[in-house]
Amino acid sequence: MEKLEQALQDKLDQRKEVSSYRSMVVNTDLVDFCSNDYLGYARLLAEYPINKYNRVGATGSRLISGNSLKIEKLESEIAQFHNAESALLFNSGFDANLGILGCIASRHDTIIYDELSHASIRDGIKLSLGKSFSFNHNDVKDLELKIQRASGQVIVVVESVYSMDGDCCPLTEIVEVCQKYNAALMVDEAHGLGTVGANGEGLVVHHKLEDKVFARIYTYGKSMGGHGAVVVGSSVLKNYLINYARSFIYTTAMPFHTVDVIRNAYELLKNRKAINQLKSNIQLFKRHLYQSVSSKFIDSNTPIQSLVIGNTAQAIELAKKIQEADFFIKAILAPTVPKGEERLRICIHAFNTEVEIKRLCAVLNENIK
Ligand SMILES: Cc1ncc(COP(=O)(O)O)c(C=O)c1O
Repeated sequence: MEKLEQALQDKLDQRKEVSSYRSMVVNTDLVDFCSNDYLGYARLLAEYPINKYNRVGATGSRLISGNSLKIEKLESEIAQFHNAESALLFNSGFDANLGILGCIASRHDTIIYDELSHASIRDGIKLSLGKSFSFNHNDVKDLELKIQRASGQVIVVVESVYSMDGDCCPLTEIVEVCQKYNAALMVDEAHGLGTVGANGEGLVVHHKLEDKVFARIYTYGKSMGGHGAVVVGSSVLKNYLINYARSFIYTTAMPFHTVDVIRNAYELLKNRKAINQLKSNIQLFKRHLYQSVSSKFIDSNTPIQSLVIGNTAQAIELAKKIQEADFFIKAILAPTVPKGEERLRICIHAFNTEVEIKRLCAVLNENIK
C-alpha cells in the first residue's frame, strides 16, 4: 500500500517538475471566457421551472428498471430535430464515445481518426477489438492514403469543431472520401451543436449530409448548458448499441430532471437570439485584436479561439496576467494538447458584453508581442 502510494506520489512529482500538474480551481467571479457554456444556456436553463417527481434517481439501467416513456419520447424528439431515424441517450459524451467506439468494430475492421481527436474518442478506440490509426489533422489526402492501407470495414472518426483548436473539419471532402471507399463516418458534434448553422444545428445538418454519416454524437454539457449526450443514426445502430455498448448497458439511466433539462435546452435552441449574439460576439472579438495578435490565433469562426504559445511557463504566465485583469481564462497544457502546443483557449459566449470583449482584446493586444 505504502509502496503504491509512493509510486503515485513520484509520478505526481514528475508532473510538478515539468509544470503539468493538474489541480482544480473553484470557479471564481472572474468574467467567463473559459467555459463551454457558449450560448449561456447553463444560466438560462436555471430559470426554467423544474418538474417535481415522486422519485429522483432512475433506479437502474435502461434495460432493467431505468427506462420510461419520458426518456423514450425525448429520444424520438431528438431524432426528429437532428433529422435522423433514431437517437439513444447516454449519460455523457465521454460515455457515448466509449460506448459506440468500444463495440462497432470487429477485429478485422479498422478505425481511422483525426490526430487531434478528443480523449473520449481515443479511449473508446482503445476498448475496440479493431485495428486503428490516426490521420493528420484535417488532411483529407492523408485520410485517403490511410483508408487505402486499412483492412476490413473502415470507420472514420472526426469532430465537427475541434475542442482545443476550434477549427471545423472539412466535412464535405471527408464525406466524399468515405463514400468513395465505403467507409462509415462518425462525427462528434460536441462543440458543433448550438454553434454551427443558423439554428445551431451542427455541421452535418448544416451541410445536409445526414444520410452520408453513419453516426453523430451530440453532447449536452456544452452549448446546451446541461449534461448527457446522444448518439443519432439508424434504428439498426440504436438496437446494436442497446445490445453491445457497455457504457449504455451497465450504468444507471439519467434522472428525470436531466431529461427535462435536455428538453428545455432544445426549446431554447428554437429561439435564435443567443445563437445570433454568439456569432456577433465572435466577430467583435476578432475585429478588436490587432492584426499582429489575431494572426497568432488558430483560424476559427467558432467560439473556441486558441492562441498557441508553445511553452508551458509562458502560457501559464500569460494566463495569470489575463486573470489579474479579471478574466477567467486558463492555459491548456500538455498532455491535454500536444507538447510544444501549450496555449490559451479563449471561449466567447453569447452573454459576454461588448465592454468585456473589448477590454479582453485590449489586454491581449497589450501582452502579446
Ligand atoms: C469532442 C468532444 N467529445 C466528447 C466530449 C465529452 O463530452 P462530455 O463532457 O459530455 O463527457 C468532449 C468534452 O470535452 C469533447 O470535447
